[in-house]
Amino acid sequence: MEKWPPWLIGMVQVHHLFRLNLGGNLFRAPIGDSPQEVLDIGTGTGIWAIDFAEWPRWVPPNVKFEVDDAESDWSFPPNHFDFIHARTMGGSISDLDKLLAQCYKHLKPGGWLELDEVDTLARSDDGSLTPQHALSQWIAYLNEASMKAGRRLDIARTYKAAIEKTGFVDVRDDIYKNPVGTWPKEKRLKEIGQWGTLSTLEGLEAYSLALLTRVLGWDRARIEVMLTEVRKDISDRKIHWYFNM
Ligand SMILES: C[S@@+](CC[C@H](N)C(=O)[O-])C[C@H]1O[C@@H](n2cnc3c(N)ncnc32)[C@H](O)[C@@H]1O
Repeated sequence: MEKWPPWLIGMVQVHHLFRLNLGGNLFRAPIGDSPQEVLDIGTGTGIWAIDFAEWPRWVPPNVKFEVDDAESDWSFPPNHFDFIHARTMGGSISDLDKLLAQCYKHLKPGGWLELDEVDTLARSDDGSLTPQHALSQWIAYLNEASMKAGRRLDIARTYKAAIEKTGFVDVRDDIYKNPVGTWPKEKRLKEIGQWGTLSTLEGLEAYSLALLTRVLGWDRARIEVMLTEVRKDISDRKIHWYFNM
């Protein structure tokens, strides 16, 4: 059997993680139960789009994949979509205002936009994670590199203001604490924590290599040394860390 690359496994795990956080659902927007035209920007594996297509009882031929740059001018008609969804696009978008303006233009009046994102900041409420931990430093380096590359990873915290500025109304920012590790006592959070660990470990290299070598000029050996320490922190039950979703 062909072996899946870690980044692909990570993407599937992140899909599951979002669903766990959303109580099994695929989205939060109150879109009703019969949206006709739906766009998933940066669909990746297409796993969200395929699951979504099954949800409103569409038949699979109703899902069409297009390879294009979401940041170029869209050829869709204006006032076309009932729902536009994009998930984990941090690190991919160079001009958020332009992307949002296109979403606004191509949504029908009364249509919905939902952006689901991981906030790239490792947090703890009890001080068990410090800025000195390799984990904190790793994320800080990634954020710095992505900023330098003009496609910021920590885009989640900029969304609400940018969306409001575009002219959207009824804007809501729902924040979920996503623990990583088996440290939470509550069963549901422990399960989320286990999936969080898996997906973070699988995604470590995919998120690190290009940014740290091409943008910050590190060599592979330096990255490996840091990632070894980061892996230890991720699996350390004494560190009660989480990120916001
Ligand atoms: C982290 S993945 C997320 C995939 C998917 N949204 C999910 O949550 O499972 C980011 C995806 O965005 C795509 N992407 C990045 N920049 C893009 C662009 N300018 N236009 C279209 N897709 C883009 C990448 O190819 C990748 O598949």
